Amino acid sequence: MKVLVFDNYEAASEQAAQMVEAQILENGQSVLGLATGSTPIGLYKNLIEGVTARGVSYKEVCTINLDEYIGLANDHSESYHRFMAENLFDHIDISIDNTYVPNGVAPSAEEECIRYEEIIDRLGPIDIQILGIGSNGHIAFNEPGTDPETLTHVVELVASTREDNARFFPSIDEVPTHAITTGIKSILKSKKIILLATGKGKADAVKKLLSKEISKDFPASFLWNHKDVTLIVDQDAYALVQTEGQ
Ligand code: PGA
Repeated sequence: MKVLVFDNYEAASEQAAQMVEAQILENGQSVLGLATGSTPIGLYKNLIEGVTARGVSYKEVCTINLDEYIGLANDHSESYHRFMAENLFDHIDISIDNTYVPNGVAPSAEEECIRYEEIIDRLGPIDIQILGIGSNGHIAFNEPGTDPETLTHVVELVASTREDNARFFPSIDEVPTHAITTGIKSILKSKKIILLATGKGKADAVKKLLSKEISKDFPASFLWNHKDVTLIVDQDAYALVQTEGQ
């Protein structure tokens, strides 16, 4: 795992964007694995700027998102479909037909999981997978205890994740209880992975990740089993690692 430390969120976001743009400039038909959450918003802002500022085109790019809440329609304000439209897709020249997010209101969530994993295999391998990390070490909605062999599956969200995400909903009761998420094995199929961790709230998780102990209790630790992972952090997220190292 390569670790890149930046002064702040903006610089970390710029670095991630440069890596994504370099991939697209090399191959205009790249497949990007995308994440939701607060962390990648700065990356997406940079990618949007890149369309006009640097002439980057997404006309032939495909995107595959990590997860979606079960029970939220595509146009629900907190669905990940809507998040992606508002934070990226509506502002770049991508064809919406080339963007994939699990269907949280599919008649059968189990069948949707199978269909989604087939999409990953048909379009993939993903050239660059963007990941955030949960304060409990989750990647996508793969919560502690997840088997590393998991493909796309239905998960019950743990209390801490529902609490983390409650800030986007009128009350915690409205945070969905289940989600469809790509699995750890699905994520590790990607050719290259960029893990973004910024802010003090991620300092414990980054410290734990960099202890290199691989365990189901900390799903992000399975990234140590992949040969091309870049961890991009800001000083706040790296703070506890530095303290220990000095
Ligand atoms: P965040 O979420 O970017 O909103 O902190 C990351 C995650 O839970 O994977």
